[in-house]
Amino acid sequence: MPVKLEQLTRQQFDRFCDFIYRTSGIRIAENKQTLLSNRIRRRLREGQDFEAYYQFLTSPAGDGEIGQFIDAITTNETFFFRTDTHFQWFGDAFLGELIEAAQRGRRPRSLRVWSAGCATGAEPYTLAICLRENLFRLRDWSLEIVGTDISDEALDAAREGWFRPRAVEAVNEKQRKRYFERSNEDDRWRVRDNLRDLVHFENHNLLEPMPRGPFDCVFIRNVLIYFDRESKAIVVEHLVNALAPGGYLVVGPSEGLYDMLEPLERISTFLYRKTDAS
Ligand SMILES: C[S@@+](CC[C@H](N)C(=O)[O-])C[C@H]1O[C@@H](n2cnc3c(N)ncnc32)[C@H](O)[C@@H]1O
Repeated sequence: MPVKLEQLTRQQFDRFCDFIYRTSGIRIAENKQTLLSNRIRRRLREGQDFEAYYQFLTSPAGDGEIGQFIDAITTNETFFFRTDTHFQWFGDAFLGELIEAAQRGRRPRSLRVWSAGCATGAEPYTLAICLRENLFRLRDWSLEIVGTDISDEALDAAREGWFRPRAVEAVNEKQRKRYFERSNEDDRWRVRDNLRDLVHFENHNLLEPMPRGPFDCVFIRNVLIYFDRESKAIVVEHLVNALAPGGYLVVGPSEGLYDMLEPLERISTFLYRKTDAS
């Protein structure tokens, strides 16, 4: 006989939705009661029901659980060279502009990049590949990539740096040899230290100001799809504040920010720049 799994009651659903919105900015649609029940069920401990889990999550003892909870109810799917045009721009036009400015003495030989909502790290590691491939013109530069996410579980996986074959499909043979090692036990790939050395990971909620920066370039992609306008506006303010003057914001195709980025100069559909007037 099929087992009937317990579902959130309407009241529980509303309370969880409120909590999710307050802590992450994500709005869960009214018709997602079953989906949310299924996702939350994954986090329940032996013998724990929705009610007990909610009490734990919202108590001081549940602080460490919040990231994992948000992780379980959203998707942290990510892969290398996702929307490749963004990385082509980064490796060619962007680095070219910076290097020329440094040669003319108009900027220091340093570069800081922020991958905001980096999940398990494919985005910041792809940026690291772009930097490594250009190392011949970045000699003597100080290079730093910061990957942040609300989920500690995703960040731990990012630090470990193991990826399934699907995530590295777009990484070519040469790059795999240079930047990855293959597992002896299964079909996974692990990033080598030459990428790991360029990236570090930190927990950060985009609804909070970014304490570090300024950044010459910020990537925000496939993160804000479930955020409402109010939360997006808060995130935009934090992103703009974290950019250095002249810095670029790279926006994913599903962010829905196109009419919210007035403080920045629009360069193309995915690219915005902080001007002196910003
Ligand atoms: C689909 S992944 C995107 C990964 C990567 N940027 C990419 O494009 O491949 C979305 C990530 O956003 C994170 N996230 C959701 N809400 C967040 C918040 N308020 N602050 C920081 N990260 C958040 C999730 O934990 C998840 O790992």
